[in-house]
Amino acid sequence: MGKKILMVCLGNICRSPIAEAVMKQALEYEQLHHEWTVDSAGLGGWHSGLLPDNRALSVLEQNGIVYANRARIITVDDFKECDYIFGMDNSNVAELKRLAPENSKAKVKLLGDFGLKESNKIIEDPYYLVGEEPFVKVYNQCVLACRAFAERLKKEKTNTVS
Ligand code: 4NP
Repeated sequence: MGKKILMVCLGNICRSPIAEAVMKQALEYEQLHHEWTVDSAGLGGWHSGLLPDNRALSVLEQNGIVYANRARIITVDDFKECDYIFGMDNSNVAELKRLAPENSKAKVKLLGDFGLKESNKIIEDPYYLVGEEPFVKVYNQCVLACRAFAERLKKEKTNTVS
């Protein structure tokens, strides 16, 4: 009970807020939302305190999701408190592994290792790209990956209980 997932990208204003919102929905779908909380953070603090990029908010809104959390930087405590920390690309994962303290309990994973094909498993930084389309792609990748991960949690739980 009281398990925690943290979604992490560079700025915490594009990919990880989308991943956070989508993972919450996937956990609700599997009826696991009472046991798991989901948050997001950035590896850098340039945008701390700000809402996500407007394009991220717009894509979420088009999918019926209202997002109001503000960007923050990851802390050492996150590694001690979280069960899973997901990076969006390989450089996020490498940096997370570098930052992890010795007593980290978090499993650091690439989000796309769940539910995404090898050729599509990197959730690329859309910040410097033009328009909303790259954010739609991020959203779609997150939906597949988060559904796959939530299903896996559900299966693990069922196997443990029965
Ligand atoms: P994110 O996108 O990591 O998906 O939130 C970025 C946002 C800001 C910057 C880089 C990536 N930045 O360099 O400011």
